[in-house]
Parts: sequence; structure tokens; C-alpha cells
Amino acid sequence: MSESLIEPQNVIDFVVNKGNGVKGLSQTNLKSIPELYINPPEERLDPTQVVTQKSIPTIDVSKWDDPETADSICRAAAQLGFFQIINHGIPLEVLENVKKAAHEFFELPVEERRKYLKENSPSPTVELMTSHSPLVDTVLEWKDYLIHYCDGQEIEGSKFWPHVSRDQVLEYLKWTKPIIRKLLNVLLKGLNTDEINEANESILMGKLVVDFIYYPVCPDPDLAAGVGRHSDVSLITVLLQDDVGGLYVREPEGNGWIHVTPVQGALVINIGDVLQIMSNDKYKSIEHRVTVNGTKNRVSVPIFVNPVPNAVIGPVPEVLEGGVKPIYKQVVYSDYFNYFFSKGHDGKETIEYAKI
Ligand code: OGA
Ligand code: NI
Repeated sequence: MSESLIEPQNVIDFVVNKGNGVKGLSQTNLKSIPELYINPPEERLDPTQVVTQKSIPTIDVSKWDDPETADSICRAAAQLGFFQIINHGIPLEVLENVKKAAHEFFELPVEERRKYLKENSPSPTVELMTSHSPLVDTVLEWKDYLIHYCDGQEIEGSKFWPHVSRDQVLEYLKWTKPIIRKLLNVLLKGLNTDEINEANESILMGKLVVDFIYYPVCPDPDLAAGVGRHSDVSLITVLLQDDVGGLYVREPEGNGWIHVTPVQGALVINIGDVLQIMSNDKYKSIEHRVTVNGTKNRVSVPIFVNPVPNAVIGPVPEVLEGGVKPIYKQVVYSDYFNYFFSKGHDGKETIEYAKI
């Protein structure tokens, strides 16, 4: 490692302030990771904790109207909170193009990437970040990410996105939005509440966040984490991953971790905290984490389906019928979201904020 990258302040300066990111760090051919990225032993994924005999369910969604499909989705949402969907109708090429665009962005020279740091970004619709929340993370995460914010006006907003990602993300969104609507419909129906309509769509899926996450090759993959233990603060997350692997989901009622083995063409769906809150715990927003790789750069493209910032989130009336006690109070989504980013990843702690 270059001498200067031993000092924590120099690492922060190089990675965060100068916008080189972990990609830049990885490109210095360092032989070991800076201390800021080293997790304490209890936060490293112990291979003996990996439950190899379990996997998350794969659901064929070629027939959305089939009650079996809806049943499988609601069951998975209530149990593991994670499932993969196949036969969703998105052409493989569209998926491949998005992953390729993610690689292309992070392979751009740093002078190009740096244009999208918050302080340089031409528009609030695009932002380059590193780690989770680097100024408050107790241990830095071995990842960089480019955020595309989509509020329904993204055709306009995308003018400011990088050339390498604009068309690919818009095309991907065109295909995924109807799937998101269908998933939310099924999940809301499972709560006996209003299905997605024009009025609640603009609230519940009013802010889609499409990230290009880049996990560079890491010289100490056992010591670093790509993403620490957390649950998502979305309603649902739709994740496209490549074939490298590394996403692990907490086993229900156990201490183990289940690997989300990549399936070509599949999309990984998980329930986020907002749906756990709206459903008063009927649906589970399950803890998950990402490991890093010693030989391969990994990309993933999550779409976080978030409500608009001023949406008020709480258990829907239907889940409280018959005198069921609410577990959560009403919270303004932006408060919840800001709380999540005001601290490092800490498992399932965020949801405590919304508890009564
Ligand atoms: C996340 C996340 C998983 C992955 O960004 O919240 O869990 O595989 N990502 O990148
Ligand atoms: Ni996540």
C-alpha cells in the first residue's frame, strides 16, 4: 500500500473527498485493506454460519393472475422476506445492458466519475457515493454506488445522468415499473387493503432509487464487508445481481445466513421496512449482508421502491381490524430515511425508530 494510504484521514481524503472511491483504492494494487475497512471478528461472515442446504424461493411469475402466484409471493413475504422471480418477461438483453453500464461507469477515469459527487453533480437526480454513509459508518463498506433518483419525471432528470447509464436505466425502468406495480398489488391485496391505483401509486412508489453498486476486488475479502448487516428502508427492493454472488440473507429463527445464489435472468425481491411497518409485522423485512470477492469486481443494481419523502407511514387500518394492537406509530418517511443514513448499518435497529 502506498505510505499515504495508511493514515485514516488520508484514506478518507482519497476515497471520499477526492472521489476516487473504493474503486480507486482497489486500483492502487494495495496488498491489504486500510484499517477503516476492517470489521471486528463478530461482524465477519463466518463460513460455518452459512446454511448451505437452504435457498430463497424462486417464483415463476409468468401468470400474475394465478392465485398460486399471489399465494407464493405473500407466503415468501411473510416468511423469509426474500424471493427471486423468473419468467417476468424482461428481455435478458435489457438486464445485461444495465449490468454492463454499471461496469462501464466505474471503469471511467476518476475525473469523469467525480463529476457526480454530490458537490459537483449537475443535478440532484444523480449522485456518486461510497460506503453507506462514510462520515458516520463505524467501519467503511467496500463499495461505491451511483444513485439515479427517479420521481416519475426521470425522462427529464436523466438528461444529467452519465452517458453510459442513461438509456440503459430508462429502458430497465420501463420494464420493471409494471412488475413493481404487480408485486405491490399482490402484496397489498394480501393485507386486504387498497390495491395500487393512480392516487396511492404516486405516494407509495413515488421515489424509485436505482443504484449501480460496484464492489471492487478486495485484497482481504474476509475482513471487509460489501454491505454490513441491514434491512432495507424501502417498501420492496428489486435487485439485479451478476453471477459473482455474495448476498446473504438471515435465516429465520436461526443464526445462519442463506446465500442468494445468482440465477441468470432472475430478479431478487425483498421486503423492506416500510412494508413490514404497513403490515404490522405480517411481512418481514429481513436482515441481509454482502461479502466481497478476492478476484472479481461485482456489480448489482437494486431498485429501492420508496414512498415520497412526505408520505406518512404506519400500519394500514385493515391489519388492525378486530382490535389488533399496532406495533408501529405513524412516521414521516423522510424522517425514517434520514435516520437510516444518520448511522452505520446496524442490522434491524432502524425499525425501532417507528415502534410505539
Ligand atoms: C443494498 C443491498 C445487495 C447486493 O444495497 O441494500 O442489500 O447484492 N444490496 O448488492
Ligand atoms: Ni439491502
